[in-house]
Amino acid sequence: MIQDLLFDRSYVNGKWTNEGNSTFDVLNPVNKEKIATILDGGTVITKKAIQAANKAFKPWAKSTAKYRSTILEKLNELLIQNTDVLAEIMTLESGKPINESKGEVTYAASFIKWFAEEGKRVYGDVIPSHTEDRRIVVIKQPIGVIAAITPWNFPLAMITRKVGPALAAGCSVIVRPTYETPLSALALAHLAEKAGFPPGVFNVIVGKDSATMGKILCESDLVKKISFTGSTEIGRILMKQSASTLKKLSLELGGNAPFIVFDDADIDKAVEGAVVSKFRNAGQTCVCVNRMLVHEKVYDEFTLKLIKAVSKFKVGNGMDQDVNIGPMINTKAVEKTLSFVEDAKTKGGKILIGGNAIDDCFFEPTIIGNASDDMIFSKEEIFGPVAAIYKFSTDQQAIQMANDTIYGLASYFYSQNISRCWKVAEQLEYGMVGINEGLISTEVAPFGGVKASGQGREGSKYGIEDYLEIKYMCFGNIN
Ligand code: SIN
Repeated sequence: MIQDLLFDRSYVNGKWTNEGNSTFDVLNPVNKEKIATILDGGTVITKKAIQAANKAFKPWAKSTAKYRSTILEKLNELLIQNTDVLAEIMTLESGKPINESKGEVTYAASFIKWFAEEGKRVYGDVIPSHTEDRRIVVIKQPIGVIAAITPWNFPLAMITRKVGPALAAGCSVIVRPTYETPLSALALAHLAEKAGFPPGVFNVIVGKDSATMGKILCESDLVKKISFTGSTEIGRILMKQSASTLKKLSLELGGNAPFIVFDDADIDKAVEGAVVSKFRNAGQTCVCVNRMLVHEKVYDEFTLKLIKAVSKFKVGNGMDQDVNIGPMINTKAVEKTLSFVEDAKTKGGKILIGGNAIDDCFFEPTIIGNASDDMIFSKEEIFGPVAAIYKFSTDQQAIQMANDTIYGLASYFYSQNISRCWKVAEQLEYGMVGINEGLISTEVAPFGGVKASGQGREGSKYGIEDYLEIKYMCFGNIN
């Protein structure tokens, strides 16, 4: 039952707190109806959570990796057992189609499972010494209290991708989900409690004032690391605010993903990849394609096939099983998408399908042909269901266009020529490259970007390193 996993307040030090002088509402993006009223923990709860996590850190860090792994495994089981209810909560608060929400719960659990295993393999090193009487050993230790600041587009998986490695490494965590989608995070807190995390190890704080809560976390000496997923603009602010404490940061920020279709591509496969990588979550993911760069020889074929695929989409309430494009997160997002489309129209863009806001919740899946580099979406992230198609004629031109952005998160291309694949993949200035593949996210691979898309990696064997410090020990006078 959905009620069993619905909570309305912060979870700190193993308790649902009564802290807070005001409330805020969580709205369903599909109709703007209230689905919950949340007690705003604000400044007070942020400070309490820091104290609680700090107190819990040392015993948690001292516990064995095997013990921590057992609790994480239990949490993974609970997430899987509760997939349907968690997905329902997620769709209610984020608008995501229910099947995508179910997919996200599985994706979220996969990080917990992966790091439950990976935490047991945090090996150090023995280094051949530079003198006869010394021995050099390297160990890895948890960083300390970490704060995870997470977005609305993946209300669960962006949390587990951060707290999975942190908890496995021996860090205590404070999760600050965005105020639009706190319910998935609070449900996770409940499941974490059931899984057996000791009080203070896993805290979730909810409040509307992200700026103040974020600042307190950044400026606290007790918080040793911030892991953030969100916009580049906010990433920069968090980095500035963290300067006084020289805090470590993992930042998964904005993107401007190119999707290149070369003239030797399998066009049907490219269309399949383009659909999934552009329209997942109504285009509201950091790895969604922003610019489709298509070779002039295959431009017409690719475009026609893409229009055909997009014309089959059903837009509507994500709770309906057959809907594949849900609402956008809020009216501002609809307005922003529309402004990008209008801008493209005035600069020669051709609307091939869609192009309109349906109302203040939904935007039509849209394809714009004849895109050019003076259009806003050439530089800025669309974050909506709009595909912009550009034409190119040489490999070098495609690579230059792809790299002509401050961002460097995900990129994609389609070609059947293995040497072209290697050469292009090596030249793309991105943290991730999908080669003949439109869906690249998985717990086993390092997710993250370069340039203004951030720093650090999440998932994979690399993901846990972001939560560990290296300590070198020199044993002297060994005679
Ligand atoms: C994101 O949009 O930030 C994450 C997308 C993903 O994990 O696939």
